[in-house]
Parts: sequence; C-alpha cells; structure tokens
Amino acid sequence: MSKFDPNTFANLEDLVTEHLHLELKVDFEKKRLVGTVLLTLRTVAQEVKQVILDTNQLTINGVYEGEDLEKSLEYHLGEPDVSFGRALKISLPKPLGSNELIKILVKYETTKDCGALQWLEPHQTVDKKHPYLFTQCQAIYARSLTPCQDSPSVKITYSASIDTPAPLRALMSALRINEEPELVGDSRVYKFEQRTTIPSYLIALVVGDLEGREIGPRSTVWSEPSMIEKCAWEFVDTEQFIKTGEDLLTPYEWGRYDLLVLPSSFPYGGMENPCLTFVTPTLLAGDRSLVDVVAHEIAHSWMGNLVTTNNWENFWLNEGWTMFIERKIIGRLHGEPSRQFSAQLGVKDLKADVDLFGHKNPLTCLCPRLQGVDPDDAFSSVPYEKGFNFLYYLEQLLGGADVFEPYMKEYVRHFAGKSLSTEEWKDFLYRYMESKYGHEKISLLDEVDWKGWLYTPGMPPIENKFDQSLSHACIQLANKWDTHRNTPFEASPKDIEYFSTDQNIFFLEEVLQTDPMPHSALDAMDHAYGLTKVQNAEIRFKWQLLCLKAEYQPIYPEVVKFLTEQGRMKYTRPLYRALYKCPSGSQLARDTFKKNRDFYHPICARFIEKDLEL
Ligand code: BES
Ligand code: ZN
Repeated sequence: MSKFDPNTFANLEDLVTEHLHLELKVDFEKKRLVGTVLLTLRTVAQEVKQVILDTNQLTINGVYEGEDLEKSLEYHLGEPDVSFGRALKISLPKPLGSNELIKILVKYETTKDCGALQWLEPHQTVDKKHPYLFTQCQAIYARSLTPCQDSPSVKITYSASIDTPAPLRALMSALRINEEPELVGDSRVYKFEQRTTIPSYLIALVVGDLEGREIGPRSTVWSEPSMIEKCAWEFVDTEQFIKTGEDLLTPYEWGRYDLLVLPSSFPYGGMENPCLTFVTPTLLAGDRSLVDVVAHEIAHSWMGNLVTTNNWENFWLNEGWTMFIERKIIGRLHGEPSRQFSAQLGVKDLKADVDLFGHKNPLTCLCPRLQGVDPDDAFSSVPYEKGFNFLYYLEQLLGGADVFEPYMKEYVRHFAGKSLSTEEWKDFLYRYMESKYGHEKISLLDEVDWKGWLYTPGMPPIENKFDQSLSHACIQLANKWDTHRNTPFEASPKDIEYFSTDQNIFFLEEVLQTDPMPHSALDAMDHAYGLTKVQNAEIRFKWQLLCLKAEYQPIYPEVVKFLTEQGRMKYTRPLYRALYKCPSGSQLARDTFKKNRDFYHPICARFIEKDLEL
C-alpha cells in the first residue's frame, strides 16, 4: 500500500504516471475489450527497480518496455483481493535513477468480472436495437478497465484509439480528435485526447447507438436516438450553469462540456467525467426540476477534476466542495432562499445516513480511515453534506460571501492540476486568511473544532441555521399530517398547489421522519395529492419509502415497477431495503431482484445482494 493512498498497490513513492495511451478493440460478442495500454512514467526516487500497477479482473497478455512488443519485461501478479484487485509487479532490467522517464506497454484484455464495465444487450437499452457498453471508474474501478496507478494522487493526461463495430459510436471523457471515424473494414476507429491532467477515476468510455444534439456553445447532449429531443429540452440550462461556475471560480478549462444520458441501469445520478458528464435518464422529469444534478457535475469541473482529493479518505474535498459550489450556482440563479432550502434538504439526507450507519460508526467521520476498506462501502452522504455544512459554517464564521468567495477562487487557482489532503487544504485556508486579514481571521479559525468536524463520527459538532422561507410551509403541512394521523382532516390538492418539486420532496421527507403513518392517512394523502401517479423520480422515491415504512401493501406493485425500470443506486438500494424489511415484502424483494439481476450494474447488484442477505 502506498503511503499516500491506502487503496492502491502502486509504488507511488518510486514513480508516477504522466501519460496513458489506450488502444482497444470493443468486442460485443465476447463482451470484452482487447488491446494495449502504454504508460509513460517518471521516477521520483533514487533507485527504482520495479513498477507496480493496479489491476482487477484483467487478463495480462504481456509487458514490454517501450512502445512496441520488442523488449519484453518480467512480471507477476500478486494475490487477488476482492475489492482492490491484484498488483501487477513488473521488474526493470536495470534500476532507474531519479527523474527518468520510462514507457511500459501492457497487452491485456478485460473479463466478464470487470466492475468498471457494464455490457448491455440490445433489449436492455432504450431503443432495443444495438448493444451498449459504458464504464464507471470512480472510485477504484479504473484498474478493471486498464492496468494503471489507480490513485487520485496521480494526475495524468491520456489519449485513446477505440475500435468499435459499425454503426456504433464511441465517446470518452476527453476531446474528440476525429469528427468522422477512420473506417477499417467493418469497424470504426475513434480517437480521443485529454490534455488536462486528471486522476485515473475520470477515464470513461461509452459505446452505443448515440446521437448528439447541440444545447450550447460548448455543449452537446448525447443519447440513444429516441430520447434525444427530450434530453435537449431538459438540459437547456447547461451553459448558464457553466457561466455561473466561471463567475464564481476560474475560466472553464476543459474546452467542451458535453452530457451523455445513459440507459436506465446507470447506477449514479451523475458522474463528472471530464468533457462528458454521464447522467441517469431518471433526470428526465419533463419539467427540468431535477437539473441540479447537472449543476453538481459542472461544479466538479473545478472541485474534484481540477483540484482533486489525494486519496479516498479525503473524498469530502471533492464532494463537500462540489455541493458547496452547486448550491452557490443555484443561489446565484434562483436566489439565496433556494440555496438555503437545498442545504436543509441536505441535512435531512445526512441525518438519514448517520442513522443508517450508526452515530458512532467511524465511517461517518468527514475523514474516515480507509486502510483495508473498499471506498464503495464507505460511500454515504457524509462527505457531501457534512462537508457542505463544514464549508458553510466556515463561510458564516469568517464573514460571509465577501470573504469566502474570493478565497474559493484563490483555492482553485492554487491547487488547479494538483491533488491534496485535508491537512493541505487547512494549511492553505490559514495561510490565505493570514495574508489577507491577519490576526482577525486567524483567531476565528483557532476557535474551530477541527477534530469534531473532521475526525469525529456522527452529526456535525455545530448545527447551522438556515433561512426557512421555503421550508416553512412544508414543515407546517407535515406537522398537520402528523397531528391528524388518526383523525383525518380536509386534505385537498390546494395544500400543495404552490409547492415546487423540492418542496414536495421536503414535505414527504419531513413526514418520513415521524412514526409510520396509518394506512387510512396514506390513502387520504394519495387521494388528495395523487402521489402514486407522479412520475418524477425523486417524489416517487420518497412516497414509496413512506408507504413501505408503514407496510402499505397497495404500493408494492408500484415499487416493483420503479425497481425494475431503473437501476440508480440512490433509489434501488433504500427501496429494496425497505421492501425487504416489511414482513409481507421480503420474499417479493428477493424474487424481484433475482429476476432482474442482469439488468442492474454489477456494483449495484453486489450491494443489493448484500442488503437482501442473499
Ligand atoms: N462523483 C459522484 C458519483 C460517484 C461518487 C460515483 C463516488 C462513484 C463513487 C457524482 O458527482 C455524484 O455525486 N452524483 C450524485 C448526484 C449529486 C447531485 C449528489 C448522485 O449520483 O446521486
Ligand atoms: Zn459529486
């Protein structure tokens, strides 16, 4: 294990990758990628005798020094670990001195167990005509796409040449070099280049029947042909979000900001792959009510992609900062009350996850220890929302936006292109405040409960106060339902007539935090507000959870429908868990999962399997 990163086998103290070049052929019949990776590494120690790379479920067909297959190198694979994979240990014929460059070529192919890849049969896509492949490398799956130093502390440029069967198209998290592919027999070769340095988890590939539609001066949305109009309509605000990000931080670095709307098994809401954000089709609400996710992924263009956590223990530097910038963007575009409201929704998510993990669980620390821990198992809203609350607290403490916004800009300028730890983040905050304001702000910083915020499990040491102008009505209505749970009142559609989507969600979330509702109250609520027929994924999710909490059986068919229509983990995991917890639902949960296992992404399936004790 590297001393910089507990979740990699790579010998980062000896050498670091500068560039990675992929040449891969996409074989849909055998469901595998076959080809080579060429790594350019620079030594950083005095005497370097070996190169250790991360791999996971890859077949290695040979290792060579240089760009061709002339000089083969000795190598062996270490013991496999379920989460971390196997170290690929390559011996160098003679030791290298410091600051030397070496090129290593690895011939390899992927297998059916590579967690980064989901291969979809035509029937699993929207248009049902062609197969589809997409990757998801965060947190530590890049090593199952290609041998590499799979640590966010290493920042590399990359290039690729992808050979795909006609008529399919390949896209990557990089700039497209050839608008029209080179035609070689029955296949098409697409070429890509990412010229800004990135961590390995941002390498991404998609191959499918993809159509593009321009939605802004630097943005195209891509999807299967039948959805393209809907996608173009939903995401028209993209350019506004990017511009607001630029106002808040620094000019957008990456050239293009394209969006890819994936088939419904995509396990996340969004993934900030540079130049090409991946999003779930569950964002297509038809009313643009769920586009905050796009603002979030855009915020990653600075927080995470330019300025990167150095390992998964400091993941909050990516996600907490991104939540903070996402909400700054929302605040600028829709007003400060919207930002404050979104923050309150976030506190609810945080509370739910701290309850789920347990208030004493070390994984609920903002900076958890991940020695021997799979970052996927540590995933929760803690880095997002405790991280956000910490930054928000510091903003209030130090004197609001006038102080904090210039600091954010400087933070990005200072760390752009680098990876950093929480300690380096804190040092810079101190240095910045000292240089601009001297003792005044330093004495404020000295009061901060650093240990409480960073290294103590549970809810944050300080509860932030947020403006209630948008949440007040939701809380009132939820209280009414709570107090009248057994004595029905005149509920009517008028109660929520002026509620936004977020207010409906807030209301449902508020009711969810009370005891299970009597079935008569759920009947009345559905009758008045028509919740079962709402198609908006967030509302559907919260309503179904509320019903399952009360073991309200009429909702079961709806839950099964939602669980088999989409595979976003944010929805599927809690719904499967809640259905499984109902004595009358546990068999249905297991049966539904077993019948649909192949539909889910391998990461998602693994978790549900665990949740359902299969
Ligand atoms: N980078 C994350 C997704 C992720 C995190 C993938 C960790 C794998 C490991 C992405 O930016 C994200 O946070 N997505 C959220 C949406 C957001 C609005 C909170 C999601 O998927 O729900
Ligand atoms: Zn994120």
